[in-house]
Amino acid sequence: MTPIAEQLLGRIHQGRARAGVVGLGYVGLPLAVEFARHGLTCTGIDLDDRKIAAIARGESYIPDVPSEDLRALLAARRLSATTDFSVVAELDTINICVPTPLRKTKDPDMSYIVSAVEAIAAHLHPGMLVVLESTTYPGTTEEVVQPLLERGGLKAGVDFFLAFSPERVDPGNGTFHTRNVPKVVGGTTPQCAEIACALYGTSIETVVPVSSPRVAEMVKLLENTFRAVNIGLVNEIALMCDTLGIDVWEVVDAAKTKPFGFMPFYPGPGLGGHCIPIDPFYLSWKARQYGFEPRFIELAGHVNGAMPQATVDKIADALNVQKKALNGARILVAGIAYKRDINDVRESPALDVMGLLHQQGARVCYADPYVPTLPARSWLGGHELESLPLDASTLAGIDCVAILTDHRSFDYDTLVAAAPLIVDTRNAIKQTHPHVFKLGAPQPAHAATWLPAPASDEAA
Ligand SMILES: NC(=O)c1ccc[n+]([C@@H]2O[C@H](COP(=O)([O-])OP(=O)(O)OC[C@H]3O[C@@H](n4cnc5c(N)ncnc54)[C@H](O)[C@@H]3O)[C@@H](O)[C@H]2O)c1
Repeated sequence: MTPIAEQLLGRIHQGRARAGVVGLGYVGLPLAVEFARHGLTCTGIDLDDRKIAAIARGESYIPDVPSEDLRALLAARRLSATTDFSVVAELDTINICVPTPLRKTKDPDMSYIVSAVEAIAAHLHPGMLVVLESTTYPGTTEEVVQPLLERGGLKAGVDFFLAFSPERVDPGNGTFHTRNVPKVVGGTTPQCAEIACALYGTSIETVVPVSSPRVAEMVKLLENTFRAVNIGLVNEIALMCDTLGIDVWEVVDAAKTKPFGFMPFYPGPGLGGHCIPIDPFYLSWKARQYGFEPRFIELAGHVNGAMPQATVDKIADALNVQKKALNGARILVAGIAYKRDINDVRESPALDVMGLLHQQGARVCYADPYVPTLPARSWLGGHELESLPLDASTLAGIDCVAILTDHRSFDYDTLVAAAPLIVDTRNAIKQTHPHVFKLGAPQPAHAATWLPAPASDEAA
């Protein structure tokens, strides 16, 4: 180990290292808090001054990070946040957690990584550790990040240390969070790996070293491709079950009793979030550069990408049973976040479903306690929407409720009692009812003859 590496390692082990995190979103803020909680002084850097101001006020905008934790760390001077990259000059380590979206062409958009790395490079100094955490294609750390950092003359593995460590955060997961999810780490040299492992070792229970950044990058893409492909498989099985008149939810529940060789995945209205719909395409893009055609990824993309339309078809079929048309129907979407109990609508399939419904002439509204408003630009309807309360008075004016996200706080009993028609894409309603249609399941018994209870004023 070189003296410069020993120095940094010593500071990390003694809790004297000054850590930095670039990009304070769903990944970066929990990581910065975790570093600060476990003895490092951590500075967060983000271009979004509203986030920096919120942190300074001790107000968390990430549901998994309690504001009290932020306030305690700010008061103890263990955590601070800024938009100014010049602080990098005083830091020992920096973790990069910026977005990695796709371009419209489904090619990787590396602009956030490039701009963050260029800003770091301007203040890079000998003895510093840089770790990329953003999900990206194999080769990014060595092919994109390393040359940008080395432009100033310092050499990775010699003057500074470089590694990749994928983030595995699962927003809203009450059991697994930043500290207790094992962290895979690949360094550009064994020394880089050792230092990066030491950094994570301060704050994360289990660190899993691998032989290179490329392997670590691939690990993350395997994990997310595994999910995308299995969700694609179960979505196809759901559509098959629909056609065959079999309830896919019952099938999956029974299949998962097998104690080995099976893992349950569930169908739904489509993929959402910043990871599963996007990351596999980083891998297929890279594979194609080498002339390799990644068929599973493409097929899963097709199946999952067709689920919003399959959901709209299900809604149209259900309305049809009640002798109503989609055109002009008042449809309330219950849950627009991409998954249960979170506020993230990025890539949410609900937005696609709402757009498709709107295009078919339906009058669309929504209820989501986690998403109070939906800006006009976020969906095809072209106007801003506000979340409605999911109560009897809202439901009185609705033709169909489409459950697209099964938030735990929804009152499903009220929904079943007050909605004239429900299309449930998440199996949120366990019992069968003649007016509850499920994605991937046959039409409910007596659906054709079921009549909603008359509204109270009509009954009078
Ligand atoms: N959200 C998840 O569940 C999750 C899980 C695992 C991995 N990831 C990966 O982690 C990365 C970050 O995702 P996220 O969900 O935290 O994104 P996010 O959008 O919530 O946060 C990213 C932050 O980076 C900031 N930013 C953008 N460019 C910047 C720059 N040049 N300098 C400084 N700050 C900049 C943004 O303002 C934003 O606050 C992505 O690669 C994503 O694929 C996300």
